[in-house]
Formats: sequence, structure tokens, C-alpha cells
Amino acid sequence: MTFDVVVIGAGAAGLMCAAQASYAGRRVLLLDHANKAGKKILMSGGGRCNFTNLATTPQHFYSENPYFSISALKRYRPEHFVELVERHGVDYVEKAPGQLFCATSAKDIVHVLLTECDWAGVDVQLKTRIDRVERNGEGMRLTTSSGCIDAGVVVVASGGLSIPTMGATGFGYDIARQFGLEVLPTRPALVPFTLSEPWKSRFAELAGVSVEVSVSCRDKSFLDPMLFTHRGISGPAMLQISSVWQPGDALTLDILPGEDAGEALRYARETTPKRQLSTWLGERFPKRLVQALMSWYVDTQEGRPLAQYSNAELDAWATRLNAWELKPSGTEGWRTAEVTLGGVDTAAISSKDFSVKDLPQLRFIGEVLDVTGELGGFNFQWAWASGVACGQAC
Ligand code: FDA
Repeated sequence: MTFDVVVIGAGAAGLMCAAQASYAGRRVLLLDHANKAGKKILMSGGGRCNFTNLATTPQHFYSENPYFSISALKRYRPEHFVELVERHGVDYVEKAPGQLFCATSAKDIVHVLLTECDWAGVDVQLKTRIDRVERNGEGMRLTTSSGCIDAGVVVVASGGLSIPTMGATGFGYDIARQFGLEVLPTRPALVPFTLSEPWKSRFAELAGVSVEVSVSCRDKSFLDPMLFTHRGISGPAMLQISSVWQPGDALTLDILPGEDAGEALRYARETTPKRQLSTWLGERFPKRLVQALMSWYVDTQEGRPLAQYSNAELDAWATRLNAWELKPSGTEGWRTAEVTLGGVDTAAISSKDFSVKDLPQLRFIGEVLDVTGELGGFNFQWAWASGVACGQAC
């Protein structure tokens, strides 16, 4: 079999790239070892796929080279993908500012992409194992479980390492190394934290409670909900900060963002001295969290009237509320991480067409590259943008 373009990986980036290359007149084969295309799309956004973010800019991505994503993101913008889903009649909602989700199901996005591949004339071949990729004169040759395939160009769109049960492999990194490219260290990101005792048991008792927090680590801060879980802490704020957290780092949590707790407590003591501390907390936090805070910090269950608190005691409470230091023991790892930080070093890749600079018949797109978005639809926008840029140039 001979094709102009063989795309490896029928995920977000690969489906987009294959359709675009085929529309551009190339004979395209899209290969995947999985039994279904777009498995991660199907499980994304809680089954509703947060397919883009209207505020996409390169500042929302982590990479050794922060300039690499500029060109593709500029050329294929969120509005372009919105236009595509609208053209296919898919309903969507803006669940949080800029974050667009399917109104019904993530299946709609996979359907859009497979329909595009079908209309463009892409050959989609699933359940195919790729054993070898090598140079073959001016082109490339693949040895697969369904035979030998010759290709003018091979596009690697095999994604990152997160959720191995969904078919994630280090295939793309192996191919990159085989052809002499550097692979930057990989790390699970957008992932919940685990805790050691006593916090593990304490937080488990609060499983299901959610509060708005501002969380900081290293040079980053995020203002988002945090969720207590049986295993530790999750929710958008924690997923976001996990992308900068390194083992051993403490997180600084402001669980009363926007309010100076010290000032507010002193004011309350002055104006309502008979009020219990727990009443004051209860106006700001869910009841279960108030009870937990009171018990962790060995206050009486109701607390004393505010008048009985010294300045030092109020300061200690203010620190717990505005600058609570918490040291996670780790993260849940690849099993639940949404994305992979690191990956194929972009230094050897063209930001225009995603070809390897010394080997233009080999290309890398999507998450396999060292480009990782924040939470909120940025990772799919990168998959679409890199897929389009590469596909149109194949
Ligand atoms: P992707 O992982 O989509 O596709 C890679 C493909 O390559 C897969 O089909 C895989 O089977 C195939 N493959 C791998 N190894 C192979 C091999 N050896 N041989 C053949 N095929 C191989 N992002 C976002 O923007 N909004 C969201 O709502 C979410 N939500 C979300 C939830 C969860 C639970 C996860 C795990 C991830 C998200 N993401 C997300 C991230 C998003 O899913 C991810 O960034 C993109 O799917 C990356 O697209 P790619 O096409 O690069 O890889």
C-alpha cells in the first residue's frame, strides 16, 4: 500500500490533520491501534468535551519554547473550530467564561471529525499495530500488523502518556528518539493531588465538599473551585496548579479569596463580640468544612465568642484561611492525569508545518510535543491548530 500521508493516532490532532491533508488533495491513511477513534475526546470534559477556549493565547501553554505555539494558534483560532461544529449542527454551551462544551455529548465532536475524514476521503484503519517506522528513500515505510505501508510523509499524532487504559503509549517518544530527536522529561499534569496522614483522613471525611480557592505554587496562582476527595484534593484549582507543582513543594491556599481574614475577624470581634467564631465561618464556608476546621485547630466545637480571641489567635486563623500551607505527598499520576507535560522537544520541529527540520517527511503534532495547555479547552485547541497547520502543509 502506498499513501502520500500516513497519520499515526486517530485522536484529536490526528483526525483533524488527516481530514485537512485529504482535503488538500493528498491520499491519506489514518492508523490507530485502538478499536475506536477519539477515545480521549469521548471521555473529556466529563463526557461533554470542553472542545475549545475562546481566550486561547500562547500564554495558556507550558513549553520549553513559549514561542513555538504562536504560529499555529494564530492561524487556526477557536472561532474556526466553533464554525466547524456549528456547520455540523452541534449544540454547545459556554459553561465557564470562554470554555465551550458540547450541550449533549462529546460523541458529537468525534462524529464531526469522522464525518470530515469521510467527506475528505481519508482511509481510517483502526486496530492496527505499528511495529516499525523507517526511512525509505525520499519517503517513509511502516511495518504494521496489516502489512507494509509506504508513505511520502508520516505524521505522529500518538498523544501523551495519560490514561494508559485508554490506549496511551510512549510510541511517539520512541519514534522521536529513533530519529535522533530529544524528548524532554515527561510528567503527569492536570492531575489531582494525594496527601499523607493526617490530612488524607481529614480530607476524606470532607469528600464532596467544594470551595472557591486561590492556590499558589512557584510563580503561578489560580482562582478556581477546589474539591475534597477520598484520595486527597482535586477540582479545577488543584488540576491547574499540578502543572507547576514539583515533588516536595507546598501549596499556598487562600480559601477566603478576596477577603482579608485578619481584618475581617478583628472587625467582627469589635462589632459583634458575642458572635461565635463558628458562626462567622459558617457565613463563608459549607457547614462540614466549618466543623472540620474547628476540630483540626483544636478549638471547642462552636468556638468561643469572638471577644475571647486574642490578636495572636485571630492572626493564626487568618493565616489558616488566607495562606494555608499544604504539602501534597504526590499526585494520582498517569492513571487520572488529563495531560502530559514535556515530550518531543520543539527545537527540532518547524512551527509552521510541524516537520522535523532535517527530515521533512516526518512530523509531530498534538500532545506528543512539548506543548501542554492549562485546563479549560486549551489542549484540544492545540490539537486542532497543530493538526490543521500540519495537514494543510502535507
Ligand atoms: P490523543 O491522546 O487524543 O490521541 C492519540 C491517539 O494515538 C489515540 O487514539 C491512541 O489510541 C493513538 N495511539 C497511541 N499510541 C499508539 C500506537 N502505539 N499505535 C497506534 N496508535 C497509537 N482537553 C481539553 O482541551 N478539554 C477537555 O475537556 C479535556 N478533558 C480531558 C479529560 C480527560 C480524562 C483526559 C485524559 C484528557 C482531557 N483533555 C482535555 C486533554 C485532551 O484529551 C488531549 O490533550 C488531546 O486528546 C490530545 O490530542 P492528541 O490527538 O494529541 O492525542
